This record gives sequence, structure tokens and C-alpha cells, in this order.
Amino acid sequence: MSQYVIEGGKRLEGELQIEGSKNAVLPIIAATLLNEDITYIRNCPKISDVKIMIQILKELGCHIEWQDHTLVIDTRHLATYVLNESLVKKMRSSIILLGALMGRCGEAQINRPGGCQLGARPIDLHLDALEKMNVMISEMDEAIYCKTLHLQGATINLKFPSVGATENIMLAAVRSEGITVIHNAAREPEIIDLQDFLIACGAKIKGAGTPTILIQGVKKLRGASYEVIPDRIIAGTYLAAAAMTRGSIRLKNVCYAHVKAITDKLEMMGCKMVQENNGLVLSTPQILRGIDIVTEPYPGFPTDMQSQMMTLLCTCKESTTIKENLFEARFKIVDELKKMGADIEVKGCTAYINGYKPLYGTTICAKDLRGGAALVLAGLVAEGTTTVEHIEHVERGYQNIVADLSKLGAKIQERK
Ligand code: EPZ
Repeated sequence: MSQYVIEGGKRLEGELQIEGSKNAVLPIIAATLLNEDITYIRNCPKISDVKIMIQILKELGCHIEWQDHTLVIDTRHLATYVLNESLVKKMRSSIILLGALMGRCGEAQINRPGGCQLGARPIDLHLDALEKMNVMISEMDEAIYCKTLHLQGATINLKFPSVGATENIMLAAVRSEGITVIHNAAREPEIIDLQDFLIACGAKIKGAGTPTILIQGVKKLRGASYEVIPDRIIAGTYLAAAAMTRGSIRLKNVCYAHVKAITDKLEMMGCKMVQENNGLVLSTPQILRGIDIVTEPYPGFPTDMQSQMMTLLCTCKESTTIKENLFEARFKIVDELKKMGADIEVKGCTAYINGYKPLYGTTICAKDLRGGAALVLAGLVAEGTTTVEHIEHVERGYQNIVADLSKLGAKIQERK
């Protein structure tokens, strides 16, 4: 198993280009099933979750190739509606293929994705919505079989603004009969990007980014050439990395509005942020003020930045708290940070960081994607050498964290 080996103590400085968004491109790749054409997705990150999604579509009968960072997807021929069990197990967000297949052929079979490192990850909101759209759903053992003879638009009131459920409904609705209204829809920038992609394919959809999305089903969609938005969580991760080391960096290809919940918190801690067109510059004073964090659906503070902020707060003298409201098992890095010397305790969905304690390099274990990235950040400031194991979690969402951080002056390498 490969590892990251990091020598702490280097102040990060320099400039980075941010890659395309994992959480925008995954639903857009799923959406190509709806257009029975050839689609060009530009600024596509070469990360393992994208590679799994490519594999899943190839097994469905699609032809896909890379042209540099553009993914060329030919969805004209579909050979099956059964999703590969082992690939679905590797990536639970493949559940959004249900909506796309309902719109494409009215039939789908998927294995229940099950929980992951963040908790149970139920899919009740997805299945309830599809049933309202005239989809018959039956389950045998772990397999879920969906069938509709007539996909019907519906009014869906989400009890929680679930990102995946919002996307699944959008994908099912764009080629259904009639009107679909989603109330209490997720408002993340990735939802807007999916809407913009679907409009480029000829869909009639509006309201993404607000709590109410309106879709008028159409018979057919066409291929498109589309550029994915930058990854706001990767941008946030590198801002936190620079702030950890009291460094200063310039990020290019960042949509400032998408990272505002993150930069607001960093400014409250004392960081200086200067907005540039299509980017931003962060500089960090020697002393940062610890603040409390509460994760919320967008536009609140993103749960995907919670672990990285925990590591940053370990460098502040104030005692602080982090309340995690979205996932019941997203504090897995606490035990690993404690191995390095951090003083953190968890009670229910709140973590208590009891002020600054020096961190010492040791061997620690990544247990989920963003937690693994946060452990790399801890290695940047720890005294001595930090070895992060199970880096396959990090490679799911970061194209090349070693090259990126090295470009900013970090001493980090991958040991095969
Ligand atoms: C998306 O996951 C992201 N993944 C996650 O990013 C992100 O953390 C999450 O949204 C929240 O922003 C992708 O976009 C691929 P949800 P998703 O449905 O869609 C509950 C990363 O690190 N829920 O908004 O699965 C659920 O249990 C990943 O890039 C139900 O109860 O998130 C959770 O508590 C991690 N029933 C809450 O909603 C359902 O049917 C948020 O889940 C669905 C969800």
C-alpha cells in the first residue's frame, strides 16, 4: 500500500491552479446517459472516483476516452441497465445513475450502495422521489430493481436538502412526461453546474441554487461540450494548508462565491484574502484566532471542509468546537490527530479541540477522503516525519496532492 511521507515545518508559498470539481463532474458524467450522443467534458479531474464512473459507463456499453483533461463520452449505445456490483460498492455516489437510467431506458438495477466511512448514507429520499415519478422499485437481497413504463413528473418535497437526491430527481425529470418541482432542493454550486450542463444538452430546467427547482420534461437531449466548475473543496483544502503553515499562496481557477463560507471563516481567524479575477490570494499572520465551526448545507460551512478545519484549529491556542450536522461518523481523524499529540475529545456530534498542542510526526491512517487530506495537512506542521497510510482514500478526490503541495514548498513524497 502506498503512503505519503511528509517532513513538517515548511511554510507554504507559491501559486496553484485548481482542478475541476469531483462533485460537479460525477453527476454530469451520469447525465450523459440521457443524451444518446457524444459529449465533451472539459476540465475533468483525473481522480479515482472519475475512473470508477468511467468504468461503470463502459460496462453499460458507452465508449469513453480521455483527450488530455477532456473526457469524450459516447452514449449512443446502451448494452444493459444493470450496474456493476463491485464498482457500485466502490463508489456509493453511483446511486445517481438510477435517475439517469430511468430517463434513458426506464429500467435500472443497482446494488444497495451501503454505508461508507461517513456513516449509514441512507438512500430513502432518492427512492421515495423516484416512486413519486411512477417508478416501481423492488428489492431482492442487496439488489434494487427500478422499472417505469411511463416516467411522470411530480412535485417532490425533500425532508432534507440532499445533494444526491436533488441530482437524482433532476436526472430522472429532464426526460420525463410533464413538470417536476423539487422543494427544499440542495443549493450547492455543483447542482447549478448540473443544471447548466443539462440546459446545454437541451433540457428545460431552472431554479438550481435556490430551494425550488422546476423541470419541464423533454423527449430528447443532445450532446454538448461543457467545462466543469473548479473544485471548491480542493481550493479550501489548500487554503487551510497554507494557513496551517502561516504561509501565503495564490490560487487560480477558483470561483470566489463558491468558497465564501470557507474564506469567511479563515478571515475571522485572521487570514487576509484578496480576490482576483478567477482566483484569490491568501496571506496568514503568525497568530491565528481559533473559532467555532458548525457544518450546514450550502451556503453554510461545508461538511467536506470539516476535517481540514479541525487540523487548522489544532494550531490555535483558543479552545474551539466543531459541530458536524450532516454525517454521523465524520470525526475519524480525531484518533489519528491524538496520536500526533493533539488534545481533542468528541461528545456526540461535537468535537472539542482543547487549544494548541505541538504535533509530532508519526504513522497515521487515512479513513476517508477529506479526513485523509486533513492528515496530510497535519503532517505539514508536525515536528519530524509523518507517514499517512491508506492514501487510496485521498486519491479518490485529489488529482495529485503531492505535486500540488510540493509546488507550494512542502516536503512531501509518495512512497510506493
Ligand atoms: C454529497 O454527498 C457529496 N458527494 C459529499 O461529498 C458531501 O459531503 C455531501 O453531498 C453533503 O454536501 C458527492 O457529491 C459525490 P447528501 P451525498 O445526500 O449526496 C442524509 C466528498 O467528500 N440523507 O446531501 O451523499 C445523509 O445521511 C463527499 O466529496 C438521507 O437521510 O450527501 C446525510 O446525513 C463526502 N437520505 C445528509 O442527508 C437520503 O436518501 C447529506 O447527504 C440521502 C441523504
